[in-house]
Amino acid sequence: MSRILVISTSLRAKSNSDILAEHLVRGAQDAGHEVDHISLKGKNLKFCTGCLSCQETQECILKDDAVWIAEKVKSADSLVFATPIYYYEMSGQMKTLLDRLNPLFPSDYRFRNVYMLATAAETGDNVPEKAVSGLQGWVDCFEKAELAGILFCGGISDPGEASGKVSAQEEAYQFGNDLK
Ligand SMILES: Cc1cc2nc3c(=O)[nH]c(=O)nc-3n(C[C@H](O)[C@H](O)[C@H](O)COP(=O)(O)O)c2cc1C
Repeated sequence: MSRILVISTSLRAKSNSDILAEHLVRGAQDAGHEVDHISLKGKNLKFCTGCLSCQETQECILKDDAVWIAEKVKSADSLVFATPIYYYEMSGQMKTLLDRLNPLFPSDYRFRNVYMLATAAETGDNVPEKAVSGLQGWVDCFEKAELAGILFCGGISDPGEASGKVSAQEEAYQFGNDLK
């Protein structure tokens, strides 16, 4: 049994990536994992200013929601980032969060497996490539962790559309069921 943290990064109502993340969560829970699912909606998340004091103190000088989110990230076994594809990249708020997790870099973080669930309007295999590459870059810096899996669900555009996409829901459930 793993402690899994799922972070939904879309800020819109009826978010497709969040809807699919719910199915993923159910799959992971059915596999016996302990799952915590949080959303960045309504959270106060400032940009990293690059001061690097966190590399000495393991604490961020910015006191906002990134502080407690980083604590959850630090103590999970596995992380799942759910994101919409924005201009062939991860959402800006997901990138902001990854930067704000910099206090964990010198820390004794627990996570070993990192996953991404991405939704997009288009369907091509190339659509999530740059988002995957961006997350891979972050994971590469956390040498005890690996990018363990990607679920890309394309062809989903309007808010709430994922509610009618049974095959994507089943894929998300199975992906969750198979998490390490
Ligand atoms: C600013 C912005 C940029 C987007 N860029 C892309 C894109 O490059 N490729 C694509 O297929 N869809 C793109 N989309 C569509 C979203 O990825 C799609 O609607 C997705 O289902 C949204 O997920 P969400 O409901 O979880 O936010 C974009 C949407 C927005 C708002």
